[in-house]
Amino acid sequence: MNATDTIYINGYKHVSYHSDIFSEEELTIKSKSFYEWLDKRRSVRDFSDKNVPKEVIENLIKSASTAPSGAHKQPWTFCAISNPALKKQIRNEAEIEEKESYENRMSERWKKDLEPLNTDMHKPFLEIAPWLIIAFKKVYELESGGHKHNNYYVNESIGIACGMLISAIHNAGLVTLIHTPSPMNFLTNILKRPSNERAFLLLPVGYPKLPTYVPDLKRKGLDEMTVFYE
Ligand SMILES: Cc1cc2nc3c(=O)[nH]c(=O)nc-3n(C[C@H](O)[C@H](O)[C@H](O)COP(=O)(O)O)c2cc1C
Repeated sequence: MNATDTIYINGYKHVSYHSDIFSEEELTIKSKSFYEWLDKRRSVRDFSDKNVPKEVIENLIKSASTAPSGAHKQPWTFCAISNPALKKQIRNEAEIEEKESYENRMSERWKKDLEPLNTDMHKPFLEIAPWLIIAFKKVYELESGGHKHNNYYVNESIGIACGMLISAIHNAGLVTLIHTPSPMNFLTNILKRPSNERAFLLLPVGYPKLPTYVPDLKRKGLDEMTVFYE
């Protein structure tokens, strides 16, 4: 970087930014191939116990952390768990909540909607997958003296980060399944998280068990989800 790459605006340092510029033809090809690659991502419910190196998990989390966030507060903590005893404890507690949900909390309509997905209250993947990544949102920052400083657009920010995490997992040739046992307070207790953090999503990460089958779902077409104003 040379001197002209830096300027100060209102006293704050800014650095020059360069995005790749493509021809319209290249743009079309690149955007189409990215879409086609992303369209291959599927939620997988049967995991192999094959090891995934810790460095890979670190890279996935670093990818997620590139997400934009409200006022750049980065209101997230990612807990990555490979410890078998902890995974077993998380599975046990998740299954207790899931049993209660399936038996007493979920509507018949909801259970009917889940039927094609072949998902139920049993969550063996929480023990089998080599890693669990649990994204915690930081609702507020705890400053010295115990003062609470609210973060901004926390759900939007961590949702985007998790989307990028899921894409990074797909890019690595690994699979995940978003799992949201509800309520998820037990994760705060098991992982001893501070009072300003709330569990947001639980993502097992690993290789699929082979052969793997996924529900034959169709995604909405462009005309079902897009309105152009030209
Ligand atoms: C917030 C959220 C929670 C989800 N929770 C579960 C879950 O608890 N169990 C499950 O089997 N799938 C869960 N899913 C995965 C969806 O069922 C899946 O994304 C959807 O069926 C589309 O399939 P695809 O991911 O293969 O495109 C969840 C997805 C989201 C976005």
